[in-house]
Amino acid sequence: MKMISILLALMFAVAAPAWAQVQPFPELRASIAEADAVLIATPEYTYSAPVALENALDWASRGNTQPFDGKAVAIMGAAASTLGTARAQYHLRQILVSLNAHPLNQPEVFVARANERFENGQLTDETTRKLIADQLIALKAWTACLSTRVAPNQ
Ligand SMILES: Cc1cc2nc3c(=O)[nH]c(=O)nc-3n(C[C@H](O)[C@H](O)[C@H](O)COP(=O)(O)O)c2cc1C
Repeated sequence: MKMISILLALMFAVAAPAWAQVQPFPELRASIAEADAVLIATPEYTYSAPVALENALDWASRGNTQPFDGKAVAIMGAAASTLGTARAQYHLRQILVSLNAHPLNQPEVFVARANERFENGQLTDETTRKLIADQLIALKAWTACLSTRVAPNQ
């Protein structure tokens, strides 16, 4: 355990200067910055969001500007489990707070037992379809609400 900690510290010390000079993911950063809102649909791995998604959020946040700053974000997810990605979504909410994004609170879309709700790749479960439609309507209203706000530091 101690060896791993030392190794990680060394890797960071060596690699950090190179990271600082990189302008990562310019297309992703531009897409987020230009969007009125962002919708994240996630699966769940080991009680969290996939590391690839968390890594993309990390890289998108690196640079002189913060594309998620003040942005409306909605999260949805589907899993075969009974919790329907709830744990992954709550980790994402925590990350979004650090980026100063504004995640939509309600309705939450946790699609549990997702394997029972799709046929041939199509979402056939009417309750879930209605819930997703409700979330998108709420996201539109949340985006409009945020567009009229005055940032606290202005
Ligand atoms: C290592 C591993 C961890 C997983 N952890 C979770 C989990 O915490 N919650 C969950 O709902 N599903 C979990 N799953 C299931 C995946 O989200 C996914 O539904 C499943 O692996 C099938 O998709 P895939 O073939 O693309 O991996 C896990 C799967 C793997 C392989």
